[in-house]
Amino acid sequence: MAVRPVLKMGEPLLRAVAAPVTQFDAQLLALVADMDDTMRALNGAGIAAPQIGVSARVVIFELQDNPRYPHLTPVPYTVLVNPVLTLLGTEQDEGWEGCLSVPGMRGLVPRSRRLRYRGFDAHGEPLDRTVEGFHARVVQHEVDHLDGILFPQRVRDLANFGFEEALAGQMTLMPD
Ligand code: NI
Repeated sequence: MAVRPVLKMGEPLLRAVAAPVTQFDAQLLALVADMDDTMRALNGAGIAAPQIGVSARVVIFELQDNPRYPHLTPVPYTVLVNPVLTLLGTEQDEGWEGCLSVPGMRGLVPRSRRLRYRGFDAHGEPLDRTVEGFHARVVQHEVDHLDGILFPQRVRDLANFGFEEALAGQMTLMPD
């Protein structure tokens, strides 16, 4: 288990569609452990396998109760393999996102407020949840990584994209 280097925007793997997981085996558990170590070391709220250089449809995310984000409801630690999203309704929320692959930058991104996600945990057990708010946002952000999309591509107006230190005070902070 190890903290792995995180690929940065511009790396071809971050623009690629990741491969589906076909076996729930020790290799998958080792991948998840490395993602876990890397996410925690960098204080991320989520990470996708391509970010540590592995083309596999695996994301993890978690938001613990954190005084930095009093406006956000905690999200349980989740390993999500081969996710399928169904956006529910037409309502969207705008939120300031960051990403471990786009360090130091923030952008205002519209996301579907509610969605259903299905997939599997690291042991192949099915997951089926309907969520909203930040939980829905983090799932959309992480699953975008599996389709080769980074959050700056979702920013509607590049006037709302910039360096975190310069934007401080102008935005409601979201975890990476
Ligand atoms: Ni990201």
